[in-house]
Amino acid sequence: MSDLHRRVEETRAILARIARDFSPAVFASSLAAEDMVLTDLIFKDQLPIGIFSLETGRLHAETLSMIDRVKQTYGYDIALFKPQPEAVDAYVTRNGLNAFYDSVEMRKECCRIRKVEPLGRALAGKQAWITGQRRSQSTTRAELAVQEDDLGHGMQKFNPLADWSEADIWEYLREHQVPYNVLHDRGYPSIGCEPCTRAIQPGEDVRAGRWWWENPESKECGLHVVDGKLIRIKSVAA
Ligand code: ADX
Ligand code: SF4
Repeated sequence: MSDLHRRVEETRAILARIARDFSPAVFASSLAAEDMVLTDLIFKDQLPIGIFSLETGRLHAETLSMIDRVKQTYGYDIALFKPQPEAVDAYVTRNGLNAFYDSVEMRKECCRIRKVEPLGRALAGKQAWITGQRRSQSTTRAELAVQEDDLGHGMQKFNPLADWSEADIWEYLREHQVPYNVLHDRGYPSIGCEPCTRAIQPGEDVRAGRWWWENPESKECGLHVVDGKLIRIKSVAA
């Protein structure tokens, strides 16, 4: 069995275990390449795992179009969680539409309003959530475990692709003809909100285009890291 096929089998087993032991479980999809691998695996095995996206109001049109492509391919409506309009209005009125360029604090406050608060609503009442994070994506993810105790949200958190490489992701997507965000073909290995993501140059780190004006240590939006600390404290073996 090839390395990729072994990884696929392991990941399918993890997803099946989540569906069996941690129902209701949900998968957070940013509609990027990793998330499309997990989407495909969830539908191939018809697992009872809901999929949601945090629709921040600042995503690229190309990213939003993936919602329709998932509907066309799998017949599934991804649940969209949006920020509270009053919170967005208050932030924009006080600070301007693009205040996230002004300071790390302003940037984190925007991420809190547009991503972190909606995430809390998306996870309410669930036993586990799943992400597409991988260890090799950044130094902040180097220690990523497949299963973690997310004490902040009071549930288990799973990163089934933790030990997949970027090459594994693309081999899977091509082999199974899974749709993917066209921005990946235009120099965007990592895709977040439109004003906070740019294409990278050959040889640059895969997350170099995310919040490119900040230092690498601050480059997390609060979905996975809070105040520089991992939300989860205890790692659990897979
Ligand atoms: S981020 O924290 O820097 O934005 P990244 O883009 O690397 O994260 O994505 C890592 C994982 O976080 C994704 O695989 C997905 O599980 C989750 N995630 C990130 N952005 C979103 C989003 N807008 N909606 C849902 N999940 C997301
Ligand atoms: Fe706001 Fe940028 Fe964070 Fe999106 S990534 S929520 S636009 S600061």
